[in-house]
Amino acid sequence: MISMDRNTSPKSPLTKDMINKAVEQANIETYSEEELEKFKTLYAKRNRFNRNQIEVANGSDEWIQKIVMTLGQSGVMSFKPDFFMYQVYTNQVGIRFYSVASRGDFSFDFDAAVRAIQDKKPSVFFISNPHNPTGVLLPSYAMKQLADAMKAVGGYLVIDEAYGEFALDRELPTGDHVIILRTLSKVYGLAGLRIGIAIAKGEAFDKITKINHPYPLNSLSLVLANALLNDEEKLDEWFNYQKELHQKLVDSFEIVRRHVRIKPSHTNFVFVYGDKAKDLYNYLLENGFKGRVYEEDQQLSNVARFSIVDETAVDELRALITKWGEAND
Ligand SMILES: Cc1ncc(COP(=O)(O)O)c(C=O)c1O
Repeated sequence: MISMDRNTSPKSPLTKDMINKAVEQANIETYSEEELEKFKTLYAKRNRFNRNQIEVANGSDEWIQKIVMTLGQSGVMSFKPDFFMYQVYTNQVGIRFYSVASRGDFSFDFDAAVRAIQDKKPSVFFISNPHNPTGVLLPSYAMKQLADAMKAVGGYLVIDEAYGEFALDRELPTGDHVIILRTLSKVYGLAGLRIGIAIAKGEAFDKITKINHPYPLNSLSLVLANALLNDEEKLDEWFNYQKELHQKLVDSFEIVRRHVRIKPSHTNFVFVYGDKAKDLYNYLLENGFKGRVYEEDQQLSNVARFSIVDETAVDELRALITKWGEAND
C-alpha cells in the first residue's frame, strides 16, 4: 500500500552515506547546545528570519500545544476545517475552542472571522497557510485582517506555515501579536526528526519559549538536519524535486476534473471534493494508494486528500485515475 495520507515526503533527502557521516560526527555524550546553535543560524539564514526570534521544539505540533498552554487562556479559535490538532490540544487542557465555519465550497469568510473574534475575544487564533486540508494559499491581506483583529482584542494570531516553502513570496503581518510556525516535516522531507520552529518576538516569544526545555531537541536530529541545511545546493535540488512531485500529483488529478472538484494547491497534497470524491478515494485504495478521508467529520464527508508519491509510483497512479475517469464518463 502506498501512503498518500500523511502529507510527508515519499523519500528522505539524506542518503545513507550522509546519515552515517553525520551520525559519526555527533557528540552524543554531551548536551545538544552546539548543534542547536548551528541549526538556528543555518535555518534563519536560509529562510531570512532573525536568528534571535526563532526557537525549536519536537515538531510544530509541540509548538501548537505550547501556544495553547501559554497563551490560550481566554479561548482558542480557528476556521473549520483547519489542522485538526488545534482543537485536540485545546480540548486536552480544557480551554474553550471556537470555530468559524467555512462556506460550502471550503472558502473562508474573513469578515465573519473578524466578527467572531470581536464577539468571543479568544486569546489565540490559529490558521494554517497554505491551508490544510484544502491546500489553498490564503491571501496576505486576510492574514493582516486577522492579525489586526486579534491585536485589537489583546490576543495573538498564529500562522502555521507547515507548507510555507511551497508558496514563497507571500507577505506576513508583523508585530508582537503574530507567531509563525514552520517545520522540517513537509518540504524538507524530515518528518521523523521531529523539528518544529516557532518565529516570534517580544512578549509572545518570551511566553511561548518559557516552558521549552533547555535542550529541546536531541543531537542526532539536529546533526542530521544540519547536514542538509549546510548543503545549499542539495537543498535547492531537493526542494525542486518535491515541487516536481507535487506538480505531477496535481496533473494526475486534473485528468478527472470533469468528475471531481479540485482546489488549487500550494502544498505537497491535493484536495478533491464533490459527490464522486469518496468513490475515487475508494477506487485508489482498492488499487494500493491510500489517501486521507475524514470519517469523523460530517462537513468533510465528500472530500479526499492525497499527498505526493515518488516518480516510480506516479505513472501507475495516473493510469488508475484515468481508468476511473473513463469508467465514470
Ligand atoms: C498545518 C500543519 N501544522 C502542523 C503539522 C504538524 O507538523 P509537525 O510534523 O512539525 O509536528 C502538520 C502536519 O501534518 C500540518 O499539516
